[in-house]
This record gives sequence, C-alpha cells and structure tokens, in this order.
Amino acid sequence: MSDSHSDALVFFGATGDLAYKKIFPALQAMIKRGHLNVPVVGVAKAGWNLEQLRARAHDSLEKHGGVDAAAFTKLSGLLRYVDGDYQDPATFEAIRKELGSAQRPAHYLAIPPALFETVVEQLAKSGCASEQNCTEARVIVEKPFGHDLASAQKLNAILHAVFPESSIFRIDHYLGKQPVNNVVVFRFANAFMEPFWNRNYIESVQITMAEDFGVQGRGAFYDQTGTIRDVIQNHLFQILCNLAMEPPVRVDSETIRDEKVKVLKAIRLLDPANLVRGQFRGYLQEKGVAPDSRVETFAALRLEVDSWRWKGVPFYIRAGKNLPVTSTEVLARFRKPPAVVPDSALSQNHLRFRISPEMTIAVGATVMAPSGMLKGENVEMVASRRPRPEEMEAYERVLGDAMAGDATLFAREDYVEQAWRIVDPVLNAATPVYGYEKGTWGPAEVDQKVSPPAGWHNPAATDQEDFRVAARAS
Ligand code: BG6
Repeated sequence: MSDSHSDALVFFGATGDLAYKKIFPALQAMIKRGHLNVPVVGVAKAGWNLEQLRARAHDSLEKHGGVDAAAFTKLSGLLRYVDGDYQDPATFEAIRKELGSAQRPAHYLAIPPALFETVVEQLAKSGCASEQNCTEARVIVEKPFGHDLASAQKLNAILHAVFPESSIFRIDHYLGKQPVNNVVVFRFANAFMEPFWNRNYIESVQITMAEDFGVQGRGAFYDQTGTIRDVIQNHLFQILCNLAMEPPVRVDSETIRDEKVKVLKAIRLLDPANLVRGQFRGYLQEKGVAPDSRVETFAALRLEVDSWRWKGVPFYIRAGKNLPVTSTEVLARFRKPPAVVPDSALSQNHLRFRISPEMTIAVGATVMAPSGMLKGENVEMVASRRPRPEEMEAYERVLGDAMAGDATLFAREDYVEQAWRIVDPVLNAATPVYGYEKGTWGPAEVDQKVSPPAGWHNPAATDQEDFRVAARAS
C-alpha cells in the first residue's frame, strides 16, 4: 500500500441498494486481486448489527457474481458496522472510534445527495475528516451530483467547506468501464486514427444508450430525475468527451481532465429546439411516479462542439428506457468520397465503437460487389469481444482508484459544472414529451426533429463475437 492509499473505507448507505448490487461485489473483487486490506466500515440507520451486515454482504455476492469463500472470509474480517442517524453526533463518534489510528480514510457517500451536507459537516465536527486526526481524508460521492447547475455549485461548496478538490472523488461509473476508456486508448494509440478524426472527414457522430428495461422499481428516483439527468449529462457526456478531446500532453489526472473540460467548454447551450423528449406508455402507472408526470424516459438531442477539430460536425445523443435492446454504441459517419464509382453505389464509411454489452470497434467500408466492377457492397471490419473474467468491473475500478488517490476517472468540479451548464436551459423548459410504445426506438418525432443526416443507427442486441486479438507477436 502506497503512503497515499486510503487506510480505511467508510461507506454510508451500507444497507442500501447500491451497496447490495455493486459495492459488496466490488469489495470482494478488490480482495481477490489483493487490492483491499484495510478496515471497511459500513454505516446506515437500519437497526442492524455487524452479523446482519455480513449476512447482507453474503446475500449480495450470491446474487451478484458469486461468493469466493476465501475472499468473503477476508471481507467479513475487514467489515465493521456503525448503526445510527446521520444527524446524530454519536453516530460519527462511533465511526471515529472504528477508524482507530487511520489517517487517510475514504468516506464513500452512497446516499441521496440531500444527506451530503449533514454527513460532511458531521465528518468534520467528529474529527473523521479533520486536520488533527484524519489528515488526508477523502470523500467519494455518488451521482447524481446535483440536479442542475445551481445545485451542483451548492454541493461543490458544501464539499469544499471540508475537503480540498484533490480529495473529492465524484463517481461516474461509466468511467470505470473498460470500453469507455478504450475509446481514448484506441484514438491516441493508433497513428491511423488522427488524420481522419476531425471535421474534414467526419460528417456526424451519434451516441445511443439503449436499455430494454424500464425503471425497475426506481420510479420515485426516476421521476425526480429523467433521462437527461440520469445518464446523458453524466455517462454519455463522458463518452462524448473521450471521443472529442485533444491528446493530453501528459497522462497525469489533471492534464487528462483538463482536456475533457475543454470539450465541454466548447459546447454551446443545448437549444430546446434540438431536443426531443419521450415517455414510454405505462410509465405513469409505475410505483412512485406522479400520475401526471412529464418526466422523460427517452431523450434525443443534438449538440455542437465548437472546437478547431469539430466545428460544424453535429454530435447526436440518444438514450432511453424500454427500447428494443440493451446496448451503448457510438457511430461516426464519414463524408462521402468524390465519386469514381457511381455515387449511388457508395455508402458513407463509418467507425463504430460498441461500448456494451460487447466491446467492438468496427469500420464500415465499401468494397467491390460480386456482381460488377462499378457496384459497391458495404462491409464492416469488426473487432469485437465480450468482457473477460479478469477485467475489472466499473465499481471495482473506480473504488480502487479513489482509494489509491488516482483522480483520472472522476468528474472534477469544473467538469460537472460545465456539463450542467450545457443542459441547464432545457431542464425546466417544459418541452413536449411524446409517448412511445415499449420496445420501440422512441417517439416518431425523433426522426423528424433530431436525426443525424443519414438517420439513426440502431444497435443490434448482440454483436459479432470475432475479435482477433490473437496472441501473435508482431
Ligand atoms: C445508472 C442509471 O447511472 O446507469 C440507470 O441511474 C442506468 O438508470 C445505469 O440503467 C446504466 O448503467 P450500466 O452500467 O448498467 O450500463
């Protein structure tokens, strides 16, 4: 363990849904890799004891990835539990006691943002994040980080009252995903990419995040949130930044994050005319949803990135619940070449990054058709593979990085504020919400109002499994 690595993990919301689905599996995975060897203090107000938390962890692992007996024994040994109200100083005194001689605890707030202020204040007052005791305490916060620009600024002020920016880790689990990071690696590790990856050759870029399921019992949360806040302002903007950023001159976290922020700064405010919102039929009957809700479960939008590289190239983003498949894909279409073969035989080349469920990079090209010299046929050269068992899950990666103090994969203060700035004009603009049937690609209005020049590309449910990463040394 390096001398900047967190020497304890405190996670608030230990009995909650996120802990159950993501955090316990991530902790077990970290243990299996030898990356977790510090006390893990779960905090919640559930009237539980440590044995109940251990049982919950076991149950979580059974349902989400499987229990590894040795790793679970180790996790049980590292686990501590503090039960109590977040308003109550006694809860934080108990945490302080559990922390013992820890100097660098990481406090992970897997709780609703409305509780951040209380918890952060109490952490400071109790000495869990103060100069005398925990000199290098960190705070890890879950999305959503605010619900608009003003609330994000307020949250930043609350956190900064206790923690310096360098100790704040705002999670966007999309940044823990290998294929999302691979976009950056693929762009900057391949010499052939750079000459065409710009406004001279690329006509448009589109990003689709489709989910074939609904709000899955999260109606109350979703109805306060909607698609733009839930996945576009954060996850899909991160993909957009990876696609559009300039090569960083160094690979330290701040230089990389500077480049991402520059992309957002180059994006004009989202014009309500460039947005179509949809709501799947049946949403209003979901538990926790207001009967007259106008919250979107689908959104399609068009943005302009006014940078030297991208000026004039429209970027389209589309996301929704209850669409035909679950997949996230990027498709960049090239401008057409000057016609040597008849123009009608030429289709546009494309580059396709599939982010999930498989990781794919595909190049769409025109070749000579079997039927004749001047006939084109479209083919795709595909490199694709499923996630490998040894790959880190997103939560393992981001938690591990936060505890190691590596901020690269976290949203910086200026980043979140820039991201909110872009969508702020539409959040309360009461633009129309069009109905769509479950299992379709959203409302019909999308194709009329927000559609890339040659239309939307709909990701397939599964991609070709044909990645020749063959272990052949070159
Ligand atoms: C979450 C959203 O942040 O991301 C969910 O709140 C969404 O609505 C989820 O389903 C998608 O993440 P993943 O990793 O399952 O693609």
